[in-house]
Amino acid sequence: MAVPLLSIRNLTVQFRVDTGWVTAIDDVSLDVGTGDCVGVVGESGSGKSVTALSVLQLHDRVTTRMPSGSILYQGDDLLRAKGSTMRRIRGSEIAMIFQDPMSSLNPVLTVADQISETLRQHQGLTGAAARKRVIELLGLVRIPDAARRADDYPHRLSGGMRQRVMIAMAIACKPRLLIADEPTTALDVTIQAQILELLRDLRRELSMSVMLISHDLGVIAEFAQRVVVMYAGRVVEDAPVTQLFRRPVHPYTMGLIAAVPALDSDAPRLTTIAGRIPGPQEIIPGCRFSPRCALVLQGCREEPPSMQMVSDGQSARCPPRIQVLDVRHV
Ligand SMILES: Nc1ncnc2c1ncn2[C@@H]1O[C@H](COP(=O)(O)OP(=O)(O)OP(=O)(O)O)[C@@H](O)[C@H]1O
Ligand SMILES: [Mg+2]
Repeated sequence: MAVPLLSIRNLTVQFRVDTGWVTAIDDVSLDVGTGDCVGVVGESGSGKSVTALSVLQLHDRVTTRMPSGSILYQGDDLLRAKGSTMRRIRGSEIAMIFQDPMSSLNPVLTVADQISETLRQHQGLTGAAARKRVIELLGLVRIPDAARRADDYPHRLSGGMRQRVMIAMAIACKPRLLIADEPTTALDVTIQAQILELLRDLRRELSMSVMLISHDLGVIAEFAQRVVVMYAGRVVEDAPVTQLFRRPVHPYTMGLIAAVPALDSDAPRLTTIAGRIPGPQEIIPGCRFSPRCALVLQGCREEPPSMQMVSDGQSARCPPRIQVLDVRHV
């Protein structure tokens, strides 16, 4: 089998807090193949951003450690890569966009200045060549009247336009993998749909792989072919999107699906999952979802469940459900 573009294997990430080290990410594995679009979903605090930041090693080195696991990019372990290799990979191989474009854009630089800086750093482009490429990139992210917009400061642009500028910066060096961490959460629904459509087009035009992070399974379902569901620092289910909706295995996935708004107006009111997600410092024996799980059994509170293959590329961390469903024989 071909080596996936990105393969996170059994990653554990710990942070130093007042009381010692806490585990925010525990034994996380996920793959992104060439040209794939993988969605990572989970409630706030489930560990999505920590996972994404680990790929580019953007954590504070003093307060973060990764005691186990590997992050293989085209087969090479990024956790063991040299600083110079990581600097090359960030931006030109793997790019990332964040939820809030305003905090990532420099308010005192024009759009053209900011994108030019990326082009200078990674591609050595300056002057007229950089300017030409900036306009080209703004056109690529469908910013109308690109030549004029290039000289605007970020505060003159709408939220959707700023996010387009961020995307232009991210794709400036034609990365193979784009990690989009809640790229549309701060935007209203219409603009959100436009940005997702843009990402979908760019993915095809530039043959990029995309890892899309969202707490909204509806967004993920529209965009990704594969979904990784995270809960309290662990992956609890990993499946092709159609399979996930047709037959969710983990009770947490079932809860997330029930919380996706249905389009038809006769649908029952939205369901929420009772309770809240535990923080990394909270010790919960056995399955970390067990205090909130409607299908909990005694054994769930004792043994931490392992990730098990179900079928059709679907795996989940819920042995009792896998047994009850007897899904292996479906
Ligand atoms: N530097 C840090 N030090 C201590 N704890 C941290 C640190 N960064 C994140 N955490 C904790 O790790 C957990 C996972 O955080 P993370 O930001 O990955 O969640 P998330 O799934 O991205 O949530 P959201 O949807 O709100 O963005 C949270 O409980 C968070 O408080
Ligand atoms: Mg986050």
